[in-house]
Amino acid sequence: MIRPADLIQRKRDGAELAQDEIAELVLGYARGDVPDYQMSAFAMAVYFRGLSPSETFALTDAMIRSGETLDLGAALGRKVVDKHSTGGVGDKTSLAVGPIVAACGVPFGKMSGRGLGHTGGTLDKLESIPGYRIDLTKEEFVAQVREVGIAVIGQTADLVPADKLLYGLRDVTATVDQASLIAASIMSKKLAAGAQAIVLDVKVGDGAFMKTLEDARRLAETMRALGAEAGRDVVCLLTDMDQPLGFAVGNALEVREALATVRGHGPADLTELVVEASSRLLALSDLGVDVAEGRRRAEAAVADGSAEAAWRRWIEAQGGTADESVLERAPVVRTVEATVSGVVTGLGAIRVGNAALHLGAGRRTKDDAIDHAVGVVCRRKRGDVVERGDTLAEVHARDETSADEAVVEVLSAYELGDEPPRRRAVVLEVVG
Ligand code: URA
Repeated sequence: MIRPADLIQRKRDGAELAQDEIAELVLGYARGDVPDYQMSAFAMAVYFRGLSPSETFALTDAMIRSGETLDLGAALGRKVVDKHSTGGVGDKTSLAVGPIVAACGVPFGKMSGRGLGHTGGTLDKLESIPGYRIDLTKEEFVAQVREVGIAVIGQTADLVPADKLLYGLRDVTATVDQASLIAASIMSKKLAAGAQAIVLDVKVGDGAFMKTLEDARRLAETMRALGAEAGRDVVCLLTDMDQPLGFAVGNALEVREALATVRGHGPADLTELVVEASSRLLALSDLGVDVAEGRRRAEAAVADGSAEAAWRRWIEAQGGTADESVLERAPVVRTVEATVSGVVTGLGAIRVGNAALHLGAGRRTKDDAIDHAVGVVCRRKRGDVVERGDTLAEVHARDETSADEAVVEVLSAYELGDEPPRRRAVVLEVVG
């Protein structure tokens, strides 16, 4: 029998723990035998000391063993692909990628998470759609992927329950941005859900948990190694998160923007990433196409309306209303105006993410309710030229007081200068 306090102390002091010690701790936590306060202390020790590859593998494996697993591929008789993001601001990529991939004939069954810290979660965004059910049973999930080609649900209680608990705890104990914890969290879910090939969007920059390309590469390699150990193909896209992705940040606002992208009218950076991720998924699927052909098919699905038709089938199959007119709108909309003329040289993603969080679009404690209507729309982004008084952004708020605060916060996210910044592609590097 392990004593959690001993493991916390040894990790705090920099020791490497044995695989069975980590397994017992994690499984004990999932059973309710190890309390939140000890697991929080353990997460903080890991934050400072890190985990070795063997410890990271043990953590991932124990999280998978804390619940049931699903073999979606076997249930469908198809090669199943999956996608996940390490988390960013305005990241609604999965909402657009899912219907595009499904429209191309590749089954897309995804379990998504909630927002962490200043980053949003796909599940919170989907819950802004009236009627949308995130809690399908495993049988309903498999049946929907088979019949409709796409389903996106929350983590079921019996799949990787240890991650569900730990994810909520890390969110409120400043222990999210640690590479091994992120790798184990993401890969345990992907492996337990049974996808044979996975595209991971590893965000880099101000609004991401990985601030430098070097850290993002290390996280990508850790996740690829965990995938390889389980015999899965993993491709990582290292993508820019120095500014929010697309224009919208906030749940219902992001759903509208994702739908616009599925219709071919999305912001350029979001469209670039959605098409890249979709083509990589198609190239990993059983269609037998390369990335270039995957790109051609993804673009065609948007252009001919089949991606939008897949969106509609998907949302309606899950009980939601596919028409965006039902999405809630915030009662107070205020503009953020440029106080000087110039070119936008920077738009701090974390500040915009925090402004949205303070408006109520995210959670400060793990039991907070989300306000789906509120958020920020960044009308101007890096490289745009503005005159004094031009609208930089819109704040969508529940009341005047929170709108006032957010206007100040969003304005402080904008940097204006004289020299246009160097153009940066959203996909910085592909690993794998
Ligand atoms: N996404 C996850 O699923 N887990 C993390 O730890 C971070 C992002």
